[in-house]
Amino acid sequence: MAELVLDNVDKVYDNGFHAVKDLSLDVEDGEFLVLVGPSGCGKTTALRMVAGLEDITDGTVSIGGKVVNDVGPRDRNIAMVFQSYALYPHMTVGDNIGFGLALRHEPKETIKEKVGRAGRLLDLTSMLSRKPKQLSGGQRQRVAMGRAIVRDAELFLMDEPLSNLDAKLRVQMRAEIAGLQRQMGITTLYVTHDQVEAMTMGHRVAVLRLGELQQVAAPQDLYDNPDNVFVAGFIGTPPMTLFHAGLTLDDEGARLKVGSQEIWVPRDVVAARSALQSRNNEEVIVGVRAEDIHPEPREGYSTLNAHVVLAEALGSSVHVTFALEGTPVDESRLGSGLVNEEEEVGRLRHATDIQGTAVFPPRLHFTTEDPIQIHVDPARIQFFDLESGIALR
Ligand SMILES: Nc1ncnc2c1ncn2[C@@H]1O[C@H](COP(=O)(O)OP(=O)(O)O)[C@@H](O)[C@H]1O
Ligand SMILES: [Mg+2]
Repeated sequence: MAELVLDNVDKVYDNGFHAVKDLSLDVEDGEFLVLVGPSGCGKTTALRMVAGLEDITDGTVSIGGKVVNDVGPRDRNIAMVFQSYALYPHMTVGDNIGFGLALRHEPKETIKEKVGRAGRLLDLTSMLSRKPKQLSGGQRQRVAMGRAIVRDAELFLMDEPLSNLDAKLRVQMRAEIAGLQRQMGITTLYVTHDQVEAMTMGHRVAVLRLGELQQVAAPQDLYDNPDNVFVAGFIGTPPMTLFHAGLTLDDEGARLKVGSQEIWVPRDVVAARSALQSRNNEEVIVGVRAEDIHPEPREGYSTLNAHVVLAEALGSSVHVTFALEGTPVDESRLGSGLVNEEEEVGRLRHATDIQGTAVFPPRLHFTTEDPIQIHVDPARIQFFDLESGIALR
């Protein structure tokens, strides 16, 4: 067991590309920390520096209180699990799991015992004499986990280990890996671009964007209190609806002008966000979560006229993408990876409108292009600075 500390770590590749910028991160002893961010934001680079597979340009990496910048990967006492599990096809599952130990010339009995223990832990006991090709994708992933487990490492590093699995298996393996980590209590740094994986697996989640750490927090805290517009837009599915609004404060509360419409925010909600006081008559960015936009009016909610862009009935709920007149948040401000291509098509059709998504109860019917009224719960609105994107609280 060990604590992992990254202290002002930088990575500049030989071609001059600055992939990781001044990254400071503390993974506590026994903690499961997920590093999440869009593709290309520097996650693998950061992990490889911890593993010793990539030189550290600046800063220090410490494992168990010891700086390991100049320690070779074999001497760092870490175990890695990658996206491709690279099992040896001609070896049995048991031999695959024990291979690293055999390389280290550990006694046969020790290897047998450790492989047996890992097999029981991973529910692979009956598979140990099979070949990898006789296993399902999920079982193969567990063999790769087994290989990491038997090494008695003090730190687990995982780089998108589930991305080769189908959706259903991914959900199952998410729970398995999280459960295994809990059981073993081994310090784990887990990298993924999938924010659902991050939210469901991590004790804490660190959000990386363009090589820079945005926020580290427990999953629900990250969801409820994003520090900036990027985190607000990246964490949560469907994503938070973000748009510009003109803020006017008075004794009763605040008015948010959205196009020619208005959202009313009561005094207590404004009072709880002291940073708003200095923003009277300014434009701010406003964010609303999909579950805080309702199909029915309720006391205190603000009603907005919009129209339906897309309605997706998922069985348990209906996701309604809507558009309304106003100024959307510049996506380039949020960085890459937030908008998928399908959404892009919808957005282009109403390029000057605000687009957002609401999650409504099931069995409501909507037709594309039809007008709808949406009702926003003002108590749950988030505010951000227009220029910096930093949360106004
Ligand atoms: N060996 C390299 N030389 C130059 N640039 C690299 C190298 N490896 C990765 N990069 C760049 O560094 C950035 C971060 O890459 P990576 O850490 O793999 O991102 P992620 O794992 O978050 O998708 C990317 O823009 C990538 O193109
Ligand atoms: Mg990667």
